[in-house]
Amino acid sequence: MHADATPIRSEQPGDVEAIRRLHLSAFGDHGRVVNALVDDLRSTIAELGGSSFVAVAHDDVRGHVMVTMSLLDTARRLLPAPVLSPLAVAPEHQGAGLGASLMRHALRSATAADWPFVILEGDPRYYARFGFRPAGELGFRKPSLRIPDAAFQVVCLPDYEPWMTGTLVYAWPFWTHDAVGLRG
Ligand SMILES: CC(C)(COP(=O)(O)OP(=O)(O)OC[C@H]1O[C@@H](n2cnc3c(N)ncnc32)[C@H](O)[C@@H]1OP(=O)(O)O)[C@@H](O)C(=O)NCCC(=O)NCCS
Repeated sequence: MHADATPIRSEQPGDVEAIRRLHLSAFGDHGRVVNALVDDLRSTIAELGGSSFVAVAHDDVRGHVMVTMSLLDTARRLLPAPVLSPLAVAPEHQGAGLGASLMRHALRSATAADWPFVILEGDPRYYARFGFRPAGELGFRKPSLRIPDAAFQVVCLPDYEPWMTGTLVYAWPFWTHDAVGLRG
């Protein structure tokens, strides 16, 4: 895996437009949906917690990763459930390890915040390298039948305990913007 040295820091208010441009370039047509999702997820962070990091070099936002709080419906109680979405690197900077740097930064921050796990939807061929595994193996249930089993993944952090499993209930922005699973 490549090592990327682009500095990573927390998102600041002045980054919003650059983050929008980044998602339009990284996700193509789907970028508009991602941007609407990001705008609404950002608004949940102050109340529910979460994180949003950008990789910036020469005043250029080259990458972005966000972790926000959904809910996990466990047998004991509802738990805050950190969900990593989205992750994007500008096309001209892909393949140089920046995505990996953003992932590791987000997971270190999640560990430091004592979050017990992080959940995401994505291609396991990419995310397995960061310790993600099929969440179903630990008893987690998908919030939608439109998410392939292999795509529904979790990484357990040091504070994880075996009872922390159940059904993921996505925060409302994922539903509002129809940004769950695959359609069609
Ligand atoms: C996914 C993404 C963030 C990876 O960023 P990156 O900086 O290129 O990632 P890295 O340089 O750390 O890793 C590149 C490696 O991941 C692989 N990879 C990238 N996307 C992948 C995917 N969807 N599935 C499997 N492997 C993938 C590359 O082939 C490359 O492989 P290599 O290490 O063997 O050369 C970037 O490709 C991107 O922004 N894609 C468009 C948006 C997107 O799909 N985001 C993820 C869903 S939210």
